Amino acid sequence: MVLLPKTQQEFADPKYWKQFFEKCETPFEWYGDYVQLAGVFDKYLKPADSILQIGCGNSILAEQLYDNGYRNVRSIDIDSKVIVKQQQRNGQKRPELVFECRSATEVGFLYNFFNAE
Ligand SMILES: C[S@@+](CC[C@H](N)C(=O)[O-])C[C@H]1O[C@@H](n2cnc3c(N)ncnc32)[C@H](O)[C@@H]1O
Repeated sequence: MVLLPKTQQEFADPKYWKQFFEKCETPFEWYGDYVQLAGVFDKYLKPADSILQIGCGNSILAEQLYDNGYRNVRSIDIDSKVIVKQQQRNGQKRPELVFECRSATEVGFLYNFFNAE
């Protein structure tokens, strides 16, 4: 696929992600969706857990977690446009889901607030 990064440096470059989300309008799952990962999630997570999804992109994982009973899911990404898209897609139907434009490298963000990251 022509959208995929050519180098490891590109994969780590915010400019690459900005261009990727401009081209890739529909959800793209890099690591697998809930259907594929449910066995792991259901084994290690409890519905009441406070879950942080780092680098959510345009994945539908947060909404799938929500629809399967995990209501306390906060998702962050460095790309502001993809966060707005996630908010628009989920705001009405899944009001408790939180999507924030933030970097995982922000000092003080990953404090002891989450049960699962
Ligand atoms: C490989 S994609 C994974 C997207 C999604 N989680 C999935 O499984 O399909 C990596 C994502 O991490 C985001 N990202 C890169 N660096 C980040 C950082 N420092 N903090 C938060 N998100 C970051 C990118 O914008 C991109 O959406």
